[in-house]
Amino acid sequence: MKLVGLVGWRGMVGSVLMQRMQEEGDFAHIEPVFFSTSNAGGKAPAMAKNETTLQDANNIDALKRCDIIITCQGGDYTNEVFPKLRAIGWNGHWIDAASSLRMSDDAVIVLDPVNLPVIKNALSKGQKNWIGGNCTVSCMLMGVGALYKAGLVEWMSTQTYQAASGGGAQHMRELLTQFGTLNAEVKALLHDPKSAILEIDRKLIEKQRAMSEAETANFGVPLAGSLIPWIDRDLGNGVSKEEWKGMAETNKILGWGEGFGTPAVPVDGFCVRVGAMRCHSQALTFKLKKDVPLADIEAMIAADNEWVRVVPNTREASIRDLTPVAATGTLTIPVGRLRKMAMGPEYLGAFTIGDQLLWGAAEPLRRMLRIILQ
Ligand code: HSE
Repeated sequence: MKLVGLVGWRGMVGSVLMQRMQEEGDFAHIEPVFFSTSNAGGKAPAMAKNETTLQDANNIDALKRCDIIITCQGGDYTNEVFPKLRAIGWNGHWIDAASSLRMSDDAVIVLDPVNLPVIKNALSKGQKNWIGGNCTVSCMLMGVGALYKAGLVEWMSTQTYQAASGGGAQHMRELLTQFGTLNAEVKALLHDPKSAILEIDRKLIEKQRAMSEAETANFGVPLAGSLIPWIDRDLGNGVSKEEWKGMAETNKILGWGEGFGTPAVPVDGFCVRVGAMRCHSQALTFKLKKDVPLADIEAMIAADNEWVRVVPNTREASIRDLTPVAATGTLTIPVGRLRKMAMGPEYLGAFTIGDQLLWGAAEPLRRMLRIILQ
């Protein structure tokens, strides 16, 4: 049985990964070795078999025993440890949730329901670095990948509504704390049905504008009752790093763009943080290469993979099935609001949602493990 090192399994993404691996019986196919950056020598969790002691995640000699390493420990860890491991000639498979290695030529961004041929091709060439994609991109491609695979997309514009979890566990806590602070501020007025709404609103905005540094330590500004139209670094050209990833990663996942045979498809838009917990939503506008009947588009999307669900473009279905509340904690990727747009018959609108901890982070990693083990 392959020795599989697990690093960062206690964090938020790591915990979701462990849960999914247990649900899918992945541990039956591996000999897991649990690593820790803080508790080496401690007791490994119940999924351990023979390797019942936590190993030091910074110990290259301990890591190099592994045939496969899966890490959710984050980019700093990858930057520190991965080059050292490869430098001593470690030739195992490295499966990573962090973005550090994503754009390297010798790394594949893994999302097998969308790019299994790209993965298989890389495997046959002996490639060993398998990196999970940006959550927004992975969830989007799980929903509308069919249109890309069919070669129908001339360009796509995205407007995202990204959840707090994309920033990390502390961000989720901060959002809820902010909601609590705001509610407490107007609680008495809310309980009084005769109170004036503009008085509630005035008190609320005052509180938001006066929020302490401690209450906004992670987002930098209030998110509760507001939004943040910038995610990740400022690239200095008016584009956020999250927005840049849209085009770069979509094309890399598909095996398109510079150095590949197929030209890159332009993808651009605005990435916005909203007060959702763990589902990233996005409104998409496509310019298709030709006028395809809407019914054909719906059929193509619905048939693409077993997780995508086309939601009828009605008010009732949209507000019930096309929300973060409906999608959270599930692998289902709802795609709805599908309609031709006023700009012309080649212009298609869509709205899609995905749990950014599942398809956006953990799920592609455990599926890559199973592909390697096949
Ligand atoms: N960068 C994403 C976000 C999360 O901030 O929402 C991980 O891909």
